[in-house]
Amino acid sequence: MENIEVLFDEEKINERVKTLANELYQKYGDEEVVFICTLKGAVFFACDLLKNYKGDARMEFLRVSSYHGTETTGKIELNLSISEDNIKDKHVVIIEDIVDTGHTLAFLNKYIADMKPSTLEICTLLDKKVRRVVPIDPTYAGFIVDDLFVIGYGLDYDQKYRNLPYIGVLKKTKKISKWDLF
Ligand code: IMP
Ligand code: MG
Repeated sequence: MENIEVLFDEEKINERVKTLANELYQKYGDEEVVFICTLKGAVFFACDLLKNYKGDARMEFLRVSSYHGTETTGKIELNLSISEDNIKDKHVVIIEDIVDTGHTLAFLNKYIADMKPSTLEICTLLDKKVRRVVPIDPTYAGFIVDDLFVIGYGLDYDQKYRNLPYIGVLKKTKKISKWDLF
């Protein structure tokens, strides 16, 4: 763990998550919301967000995998789906870990929008705005990050580091090329 630089510590994350949960509650009030956690990356964020959410909430899970070798086409595959009954005519919030090029989010957004929720918003923990290829923006974002590869609090590098309680950056000393990462 010695090559990790802390970007957002536990305290900062908790504080921001609480604020987001309150903002969401202000929006939906007493109306029930279906929160969709995208596996695996958003799982820590989704749990903390929902623990702090004061309104009526349901929780669903989606899993997608993306092939970043074909970043320009953004080929996304759905590995775990949701039944339309859980979405149609409901208030829905997609919870993401990080929006990078936007391919994954655009795919998820269309997949859910096609099931005709009454409203649909996106809440991401991190937004790597500068890397966007597809013009899609989350309604709520925890933190904006630069073009860095971040890990921890659910985010992985090669399935490692998800369990870190903070969000950090792997220092360049590990000599990681962009293509190894994705
Ligand atoms: P996009 O389709 O390019 O927006 O990629 C989004 C997905 O790529 C995220 O849901 C993550 O799984 C992964 N990803 C992108 N950037 C990072 C990062 O910095 N750390 C960890 N995973 C990342
Ligand atoms: Mg993800």
